[in-house]
Amino acid sequence: MKNLCNVLSAAALACFTVAVQARAVGYRSPTEFIKPYKRQALQDIVTWDKDTIFVNGERLFLYSGEVHPYRLPVPDLYIDIFQKIKALGYNGVSFYVDWALLEGKPGEYREEGVFNLKPFFEAASEAGIYLLARPGPYINAEVSGGGYPGWIQRVQGLLRTRAKDYLNATDNYMANIGKTIAAAQITNGGPIILVQPENEYTNSNVKPFPDGEYMQYVEDQIRNAGVVVPLISNDASPQGHNAPGTGVGKVDIYGHDGYPVGFDCSNPTVWGDRQLVTDWYTKHLTQSPSTPFSIIEFQGGSFDPWGGPGFEKCLQLVNAQFERVFYKNLYSFGVTILNFYMTFGGTNWGNLGHPGGYTSYDYAAVIAEDRQVNREKYSEQKLQANFFKVSPAYLTASRGSASTKQFTTNPAITVTDATNNSTKFYFVRHTTYNTLDSASYKLTIQTSAFGNTTVPQYNGTSLSLNGRDSKIHVSDYDIGGKTLVYSTAEILTWHKYDDKTVLVVYGGPGETHELVLAVTGLEVLEGDVKSTATRGYTLLNFEADGTRKVAKVGVDDFVYVYMLDRNSAYNYWSVDQGPHSNADAVILKAGYLVRTAKVDGSALVLTGDVNATTPIEILGGAPSGLSKLTFNGEELDFKTSDEGVVSANVDFSKPDLKIPDLSSLDWKYINSLPEIQSSYDDSDWKDADLVKTYNSHRDLNTPKSLYSSDYGYHTGTLLYRGKFTATGAEKTFSIITQGGTAYGSSVWLNDQFLGSWKGLASEYFGTSTFNLPALTANETYTITVVIDNQGLDENWTIGTETAKNPRGIMDYNLDGHDKASVSWKLTGNLGGEDYIDKSRGPLNEGGLYAERQGLHLPGALAADAGWVDSAGPVADGLTKPGIGFFAATFDLNIPGGWDIPLSFTITNSSARAYRAQLYVNGWQYGKYVNNIGPQTRFPVPQGILDYQGTNYLAIALWGHEDGETKLGGLELGVDAVVKTGLGSVGVVKGETYQGRQGAY
Ligand code: GAL
Repeated sequence: MKNLCNVLSAAALACFTVAVQARAVGYRSPTEFIKPYKRQALQDIVTWDKDTIFVNGERLFLYSGEVHPYRLPVPDLYIDIFQKIKALGYNGVSFYVDWALLEGKPGEYREEGVFNLKPFFEAASEAGIYLLARPGPYINAEVSGGGYPGWIQRVQGLLRTRAKDYLNATDNYMANIGKTIAAAQITNGGPIILVQPENEYTNSNVKPFPDGEYMQYVEDQIRNAGVVVPLISNDASPQGHNAPGTGVGKVDIYGHDGYPVGFDCSNPTVWGDRQLVTDWYTKHLTQSPSTPFSIIEFQGGSFDPWGGPGFEKCLQLVNAQFERVFYKNLYSFGVTILNFYMTFGGTNWGNLGHPGGYTSYDYAAVIAEDRQVNREKYSEQKLQANFFKVSPAYLTASRGSASTKQFTTNPAITVTDATNNSTKFYFVRHTTYNTLDSASYKLTIQTSAFGNTTVPQYNGTSLSLNGRDSKIHVSDYDIGGKTLVYSTAEILTWHKYDDKTVLVVYGGPGETHELVLAVTGLEVLEGDVKSTATRGYTLLNFEADGTRKVAKVGVDDFVYVYMLDRNSAYNYWSVDQGPHSNADAVILKAGYLVRTAKVDGSALVLTGDVNATTPIEILGGAPSGLSKLTFNGEELDFKTSDEGVVSANVDFSKPDLKIPDLSSLDWKYINSLPEIQSSYDDSDWKDADLVKTYNSHRDLNTPKSLYSSDYGYHTGTLLYRGKFTATGAEKTFSIITQGGTAYGSSVWLNDQFLGSWKGLASEYFGTSTFNLPALTANETYTITVVIDNQGLDENWTIGTETAKNPRGIMDYNLDGHDKASVSWKLTGNLGGEDYIDKSRGPLNEGGLYAERQGLHLPGALAADAGWVDSAGPVADGLTKPGIGFFAATFDLNIPGGWDIPLSFTITNSSARAYRAQLYVNGWQYGKYVNNIGPQTRFPVPQGILDYQGTNYLAIALWGHEDGETKLGGLELGVDAVVKTGLGSVGVVKGETYQGRQGAY
């Protein structure tokens, strides 16, 4: 009907009638009906065909990594992440937007301070990275509520469906974020080239599903805000939902995701027999043959839950071998839009995570949470991405199918080919993909030069695939007008310069490789190379034994072939000079990181990072007659060899660092549980007076709602006070609290501790029954309940409404009483949805007394808050169950020009149950649960920490058990010392302590 309305003006009346009817069902307006989004090309900068997207007419493999700006609230560090991703050879980044952080109160959208996306966009443009924007409104992403603000719990209609109140609830956010995204589109000079509506619109237990009308609504929200670039989907598995075709709710480009080894890192060496998929390309051809084969999220690491084995294990599960085997399998399908989730994970600071994860969201990604790039998987990914940057024939190649016979006689080897004219790619893996065995093979390939040839040809040599590995061999491969007849060694990069061509290839340790160039005239410059020359061809055969081999092939127009073992190849970089052009790439060998390279007249200006004295060798791209070479602005002595290779040394000597000993700080202490004292005044708390909950997902078991979100409290610690008049006969009090997995709760009767639900990694609610002391008849008693809200659950499967799982008290029973005889009040963060600290957003601050008073904010030590001297959370701790708040300041003086990630480590002290929260300059940057774990090290980025000034550190310590509670240890440590080309990092502005009016 939509298209008819558009085309036939005579049918306008009929259209209007239909539209009005549609409005009556409630979710489309007449004007929306006639928007021809799918009919016209809205712009011509980003286009696509069946093989790839084009940007400004240029075909691209969108090689992308997932990064969440909200998990790194330091705008000056965005450029660091983008440059580290660009250095890998990527050209894209995908990002989610977390609605929960932007609209903490319905109707009040705030995209300011650390939540402003513009610095993220600017840094992407500066680094030369295209962006895929993923605003949801539902994102999953291991964030609280899957991105939903807590107030979504009061929406009656089913989430992620066409329910009118649900859709209305999303309108304000989508209009605002849509406008922000629209303004940063490439059509407006910004970096955004694609937008994804919804996320994993794939699993549902309600019908209709998939509901095109619902998806169309989300798409219209985005289009109405001015988004003109193509819309792309992310099915959780290849179901074909919303793939281009007729009907509503279709996207322009269909994509899906894949996490083949899942998220249990506890057995990191186990790859199940069926975890390598083989049918995705065939599925693609049936589901969306007219769009590029697109994987919007592919496993780049793993999340890890409370009580999990920790990210070190995930790093073993999704390691460099995983990248080789699983990613090369995707290339064999011809993927040309590929996003790795995550590429930089970051931190779930300030309660932004869901209960299924702890503070670190390192994700075992290629870039570590503390931004280090020393993981092998970073380097492996660099080898792969760089290859595609220089292999345009891949983009439009026709894809063959996997064969154990066609190219080799060893059935243990499976080869999938791809062909573009005469150029061929051979994707080689073990037939039993997860075997640890080695297989020896020869490959029979087609070349224009020799017809069918079995390689390697050199006397008695053969290829081998050792353990978990996969390779890409090529034939008839163009290197800037010269032909690489074949190469069994993998190509890292090549570039044709005015005076020479540089080709860098590598093989796994100990492997033999062979390549043939359609060029003659050979001089071996370095190492042991076996060679033959015939009729215009030069064959090079080498062993990747750790010693570099260099051959100079040609007569006056030379090809320099660098033959490396893989570990050595990790030190090579190809750096683009322009943001989106590798026309003048500089190829060099360096160390830890190369960020930028720029020829400036006869000078070459490099920036990068080193963590040791680092020899640099520029193989190609330095101006001839180089006059000056700088690294991070420092001039280097250099030599130029007869072959034009420039070599220099970047010196490194560690600066003297003074890191404060936290045990000797001047600690102050305040009791953060005054609520259990009889003098405590709770008159400003909210009365729990709702006889009906707004929550459509779960009915009440109590006479009045005790669900925190009914009252606007969605984050951090929750407190309840229940008053009753005793009969004197009460023996027990039992209570069911719910806070999300690994949460804890503690209960007091007046100031007497009754006990705690200490928390279990996989329990999201708990039942506790406490014996009561003898109560005096007719006296009034107060029960105080403290509950740790771990964040709201996600809503992955539509219809389950899990994001509406309430937090708070679910039920209780007091001996001999009607439930109604206990009258409750509650509080969470001060102000609830009218949260006080706008700079850190709606989630950073919970309901602890110290938080409500703002004592976690810098400057609070000057407040007349009743601070007393203390020896700190390690030496003094708490003498009895309760909640205490420790604070101190310390100075840092870390020199500029260095990237020195710091982290706080809490030592696990004993089997005792307790939890702690760490605040750094007002930002909640760590949640520690001693009895569950696993996280003990809490990285805090520069910018949150002031590296040249005074820092305010606070610890809230909550003892769940009788007796004293102390942290086993608390230290600030240096995680790396890196001399950096990153510019200065400003301290992020956040609100400081001001006496809070009305705080209770
Ligand atoms: C995907 C989802 C992401 C994230 C990921 C697991 O299914 O789209 O948002 O939750 O799983 O880390």
